[in-house]
Amino acid sequence: MALRARITGWGKYLPQRILTNRELEKWVDTSDAWIRSRTGIRERRIAADDETASTMAVEASRQALEVAHLNPKELDLIIAATVTPDKVFPACASLIQHQLGASKAAAFDLNAACSGFVYALATANQFIGAGGFEKVLVVGTDVYSRILDWRDRSTCVLFGDGAGAVIMEASTQGGSLSFVLGSDGSGADLLYVPGLCDSTLVANDHHYLTMNGPEVFKFAIHTMVGATKQVVETAHLTLDDIDLFIYHQANSRIIQAAAKSLSLPPHKVFINVDRYGNTSAASIPIALCEAIEEGRIQKGDHLALVGFGGGLSWGAMVVEWDSDPLEKNV
Ligand code: ACO
Repeated sequence: MALRARITGWGKYLPQRILTNRELEKWVDTSDAWIRSRTGIRERRIAADDETASTMAVEASRQALEVAHLNPKELDLIIAATVTPDKVFPACASLIQHQLGASKAAAFDLNAACSGFVYALATANQFIGAGGFEKVLVVGTDVYSRILDWRDRSTCVLFGDGAGAVIMEASTQGGSLSFVLGSDGSGADLLYVPGLCDSTLVANDHHYLTMNGPEVFKFAIHTMVGATKQVVETAHLTLDDIDLFIYHQANSRIIQAAAKSLSLPPHKVFINVDRYGNTSAASIPIALCEAIEEGRIQKGDHLALVGFGGGLSWGAMVVEWDSDPLEKNV
């Protein structure tokens, strides 16, 4: 029987510092009312000076390992989804591996912006399915506060810092039922951060995030609707069979518009963007953890995880949840 990847542990980390919309009003020409009505965001977390993508990821990963009752030395592989690694190289995943003491694990980073966590889940699923890798740590971690232009009101109000992690283990039942991944590089200029070797970086002397908000907004709704339909169909399920939809938390209007287009009942759509803003690769695993904490995921449930982001890119996965959240393990 083909091996599947099932989630056996989960954890999240949010920096302590809360940055409210009211505080942002003092820095840029914006208002709490505008931010809440256009995005649903009330506040976000900002990493401390000594926090990085790897340190946040380690905190989230330790929780995930504890829930899965795993010693870090048992891990075969660590995949870190991030576009804000501590360094260009070595990989953030290697830094996480060292800090955890996961001495047996291979480690690499994956860059698919806000779709990164779902891309990493799918990658872990394939490694496990092919054999040879049984216990994989998948982390989404991003520290966008370091790549935002805090003078640009059109972007700085949208993002926050954080990390989320899951353990995926080989199983013959439950776990990942289907996934879809996609990319449309023709939209690369709609959302980007210049790279170290990018001539625009040299010319402008900055590495800030640049975004065409309205175009990304349209892409996001269209893509979330299409990817949701496709991934559910590929799992041989219907939308009614899905118990909880966990979308990338970029903007509550995007999530609500996609949900409306799919006629999803509001209680089946998880939203926490109000408290964290867009945490990029961390947003789906943080939302997953909070959904578990709130008792919104039960053993036997079907979840749809759907992300979109820079690339442009998108990724979706249907998961049959067969861990018992109350027991915090199988
Ligand atoms: N405060 C006040 N006014 C603002 C702000 C702000 N923070 N930002 C923009 N405005 C103004 C604009 O200047 C514009 O003013 P104008 O009409 O005088 O020109 C007006 O508000 C409307 O601007 P729009 O851009 O049309 O506003 P919109 O309703 O489209 O909302 C937003 C903007 C929130 C950025 C929306 O387009 C959006 O959410 N886009 C998608 C963002 C996203 O999901 N990014 C994903 C990133 S994933 C990844 O991989 C990183």
